[in-house]
Amino acid sequence: MTAPETGATPVAPGTRHPHAETPHAEPDTEALRARVLATLTTARERTTLLTSCVEDPDLTAQHSPLMSPLVWDLAHIGNQEELWLLRTVGGRDAMRPEIDGLYDAFEHPRAERPKLPLLPPAEARAYAAEVRGRALDLIGAAEFRGTRLTEAGFAFGMIAQHEQQHDETMLITHQLREGPQALTAPDPEPVAPYTGPGEVLVPGGPFTMGTSTEPWALDNERPAHPVEVAPFWLDTVPVTNGAYQEFIADGGYDTERWWTPDGWAHVRQHGLFAPQFWWREGGQWLRRRFGATEVVPADEPVLHVSWYEADAYARWAGRRLPTEAEWEKAARHDPATGRSRRYPWGDADPGPEHANLGQRHLRPAPAGSYPAGESPLGVRQLIGDVWEWTASDFLPYPGFGAFPYKEYSEVFYGPRYKVLRGGAFAVDAVACRGTFRNWDHPVRRQIFSGFRTARSENV
Ligand code: AVJ
Ligand code: FE
Repeated sequence: MTAPETGATPVAPGTRHPHAETPHAEPDTEALRARVLATLTTARERTTLLTSCVEDPDLTAQHSPLMSPLVWDLAHIGNQEELWLLRTVGGRDAMRPEIDGLYDAFEHPRAERPKLPLLPPAEARAYAAEVRGRALDLIGAAEFRGTRLTEAGFAFGMIAQHEQQHDETMLITHQLREGPQALTAPDPEPVAPYTGPGEVLVPGGPFTMGTSTEPWALDNERPAHPVEVAPFWLDTVPVTNGAYQEFIADGGYDTERWWTPDGWAHVRQHGLFAPQFWWREGGQWLRRRFGATEVVPADEPVLHVSWYEADAYARWAGRRLPTEAEWEKAARHDPATGRSRRYPWGDADPGPEHANLGQRHLRPAPAGSYPAGESPLGVRQLIGDVWEWTASDFLPYPGFGAFPYKEYSEVFYGPRYKVLRGGAFAVDAVACRGTFRNWDHPVRRQIFSGFRTARSENV
């Protein structure tokens, strides 16, 4: 994959372009075709691994009421690809109209899906493969222009992102599954303990939030718009397991004043005492990770915490969660040019030196890893490792328009969901960028969620 050409416009020192994004050059049709094929192929390799590393009974079982059976994700991936690429872009007839309802996420809540007459594993695999074969034919002849869906290969990029999002969902199902280890991956490179500053001051002033130029950005990331952000301090690295253990040891889960009323009610009702998958044994914290038991590593970003837990920790630490705008300013704003870039390190696509993405590792890297991925102010690991909870509700940007369907973002806007930013080790680069927005209920923690904290300048 090649990065778009950027930064060709010279910027006079001191000049500010507060509403500007770095310009992108359009890749030619053959480069785009190669990129579409590469991203869809990467996604399918991951899907295949996640659905072939266990036997069929583990594909059809429901491992948690929060999750679909893996075999549902598999056929749903194929069904969305058929719907958007073959039928909508390609104008083809439905291959199996009778199964559409089964794989419509809005017709059947996750908890009900195991009771449905789902395609059995072999049929689900064959269906997804048949759709893919026809999609590849379509891509071979595509021109990637003409309509908003085809322009710059948007629909193809959307479908690659959709599959990768379900690959993350399936990895969550694997984490929730009981039983022996089915997935393994090398650990991230060890690093020397991080000794840089604990926080940096992000200067106040306007920056450009969201995007109008990123070709595969989804509807909720659009459009680019100026946002005024007051100066604030932000943690340079995510909150670690070691720091979180101090909150626990200090009675954090038993002290009402650190929690919002809803958060307090939730931890009391469910008897929560630590991140999900943790337990205390022999004087130390252990955790279950993809079927293996291990001592919780103190230097890794904390994982599997809810928004309520992140928010309570921040209050205990005398701090707060960053707002979504603060997070994005820290991740994209280039103080030297005043422009918003695609990633903390600039406009180049993520490489293995920048961030822990793509399920290359099945855990976050130690706090302070990836110096090549740091922002101009020295903030590390904004992209990859763990999704970071922000203080903000999931709301539309000014000028938002649902595209291509309301059920991707629009139906979720409102105070029921909090925004997470930056992606996790489980997220592929195609579904992760400085503008990418994820959201979930504040109680959820089976997701690959962590956080970092902030404080206003003079607090
Ligand atoms: C963006 C992760 C909240 O999984 O509910 C997948 C992604 N949307 N299929 C989800 C999604 C439709 C979505 N999240
Ligand atoms: Fe989906």
